[in-house]
Amino acid sequence: MDIRFESREVLKDKPQGALGFGKYYTDYMFIADYDKDQGGWHDARIVPFGPIEMDPASMVLHYAQETFEGLKAYRTKDGKIQLFRPEKNAQRFANSNARLSMPAVPEDLFIGAIEELVKVEKDWVPAKEGESLYIRPYMFASEAAVGVHPAVSYKFMIILSPVGAYYPEGMAPVKIWVEDEYVRAAPGGTGFTKCGGNYAGSLKAQEKAEEHGYTQVLWLDGVHRKYVEEVGSMNVMFLIDGEIWTAPTEGTVLPGVTRDSILQIVRSLGYPVHEEHLAVDDLMAAARDGRLQEAFGTGTAAVISPIGELCYKGEKAVINNFETGKLTQQLYDTLTGIQWGDVEDPYGWTRTVCEA
Ligand code: COI
Repeated sequence: MDIRFESREVLKDKPQGALGFGKYYTDYMFIADYDKDQGGWHDARIVPFGPIEMDPASMVLHYAQETFEGLKAYRTKDGKIQLFRPEKNAQRFANSNARLSMPAVPEDLFIGAIEELVKVEKDWVPAKEGESLYIRPYMFASEAAVGVHPAVSYKFMIILSPVGAYYPEGMAPVKIWVEDEYVRAAPGGTGFTKCGGNYAGSLKAQEKAEEHGYTQVLWLDGVHRKYVEEVGSMNVMFLIDGEIWTAPTEGTVLPGVTRDSILQIVRSLGYPVHEEHLAVDDLMAAARDGRLQEAFGTGTAAVISPIGELCYKGEKAVINNFETGKLTQQLYDTLTGIQWGDVEDPYGWTRTVCEA
């Protein structure tokens, strides 16, 4: 699909100093419209970043038909701008849209639009270590109607934000609250999708965790409140007795791109991997007995985040003396080395967008 370009007269000043996460936006954004009665996707355009007009009856505002993705563009030392496994995001976006009764964004439109926008905004891809350009594709129901039904019109948009570390702690270990009251997902629900509603429903527990001095929530399964699933903004892995444990992606857990990449890396390093249900009682017992060696989260935004403490029903488990574990550090170095082009990519995960 052709993408129309509308330029702006004055470009923004680039931020100086620490970027944080999701605080700054680039000069342009991508928009395409979908209308069932106009043959689907049309009017793809890159336009100046700014407010959009919406009908007050837009269905997303009432029934939350909204999905999104997250990936990053990296500036390599040898002068390239590259993406990391964008086809995985395209596939997951399609799966999310199917579950929310939303039309698919074809992979060539999804990746093509990202590449075009990143090319236009390549000067916004940061050069400092640990910084990248976060890419946020999203789609929502724009049909003006108040009856409940799958909408017939949508907008697919992409915005870009130069970012540093997701957590204020940076690469230092985070404290995680194991939530035993609220649940995130149940079998048959939308847990495996990236839809805004999953995150809206998680905020109450997130506030509760913060009130207790914890950074994020570790969710338990929605049926028994017994098995560990994922953390608010990342999948979670545990090194117990030299073996990796992480929840299976059977419908209630987000199939993370970083999760999948790390599982391939740890397998290649020879670690046995259990994509199995792990009871929180067994996890806390492993911590008590000194068998829980390391814990870390994996995510596009969070990258690899060491977990230094878990709190479950008032019991606190400090992991690896609240220090980043050896394996956690090795995985961080390997993954970010591939993403920033500093180490060889034996998996073919990176995709060059343009010369920097
Ligand atoms: C990501 O890791 O890209 C996410 O979307 C997580 C979070 C910022 C919602």
